[in-house]
Amino acid sequence: MSLRQSILDHPERRYIMFGGKGGLGKTTFSAATAYWLASQGHRVLVFSVDPQASLSDIFEKDIFGKGAVPIRHNLWAQEVDADRHIRAYQDEIRKKILDMYGFDAVPDEIEQYIQAASAEPAMEESAIFDAVVDIVVSGEYDYYIYDLVPLGHALYYLSMAKVYDEWINKITKLREEMREYEEMVSRLKREKETEEDQILSELQYIRGRINASSRILTDKDKTAFYFVLVPEKMIILDTQKAAGLFSQFDVPISGYVVNRVVPDGLLEQNIPAYLRHRIEMQHTYLDEIRRTFGEAVRAYVPELERDVTGLPMIERLADIMYGDGAVGRTP
Ligand SMILES: Nc1ncnc2c1ncn2[C@@H]1O[C@H](COP(=O)(O)OP(=O)(O)OP(=O)(O)O)[C@@H](O)[C@H]1O
Ligand SMILES: [Mg+2]
Repeated sequence: MSLRQSILDHPERRYIMFGGKGGLGKTTFSAATAYWLASQGHRVLVFSVDPQASLSDIFEKDIFGKGAVPIRHNLWAQEVDADRHIRAYQDEIRKKILDMYGFDAVPDEIEQYIQAASAEPAMEESAIFDAVVDIVVSGEYDYYIYDLVPLGHALYYLSMAKVYDEWINKITKLREEMREYEEMVSRLKREKETEEDQILSELQYIRGRINASSRILTDKDKTAFYFVLVPEKMIILDTQKAAGLFSQFDVPISGYVVNRVVPDGLLEQNIPAYLRHRIEMQHTYLDEIRRTFGEAVRAYVPELERDVTGLPMIERLADIMYGDGAVGRTP
């Protein structure tokens, strides 16, 4: 089944993701897919949490940290500024502490805890997830294309509920360490705050939202996840391994898309031996891909003569990926 058909057959799958190792074409495919769906009359948001701002690069437009930016009719792109979200988290925690304990300023020791907690990877992931939740639960678009960061990292994202648990544990520890301040304050105020677990219950509420979004992103009915790979030995092995891991996280895999296939047609031309060898070597790996992933390969995408940036190039690639003729077989 072709990539086009696998999407058309499942209009209920509103969340589409391309995963894979670094630099294989996730952002490129996300942009082309978003472009195609928008041209089919759907309202589409393509978004990423990648600090590299690669959507800005491919659309040739500065969209980083600017919310959903219109690209063309029916198409929006958004790049989440994770650092800004972390700062917002810090401010929120500070404000809660000030409110709860009636301090005028956050004591140095607590400020250090806040800084330390924010430097935790778990905190960063949590901040990012919160942003992703806001995006995917908004319901403003027909399709959400989530342009993922490279594989290892993406796996971490997809275990988000777990990550959030870790963070909540950290905060709980922080609260324990704050107990001495709490005692001091209650002695000063001669009363015990009844809302002492305000922070915790807030966190639990947020965790509930995260779980909801994690359910959306791992929901077979709502989500299509495609692996991007290229015809190279190591990538084939890594993709196989990753597919195993992803199924452990219950990520429903909708198929594989092979990128950077050098067109066979070149063999009929007068080409240097070097290129001829490269194409022949690719045949070996394409055979291996067919053996390994078989029916689940949704498209073979040719290596174009230049990088895919700017709308005309994106359109060209979308035509190749989703056009009638060119999918489902080797170009
Ligand atoms: N079929 C193709 N033909 C020509 N260039 C391509 C093709 N696919 C991808 N590229 C180019 O390869 C580079 C890497 O692609 P892309 O940024 O989409 O990869 P990625 O998987 O998103 O990388 P990262 O893991 O860093 O996010 C880009 O410069 C892109 O324009
Ligand atoms: Mg990318």
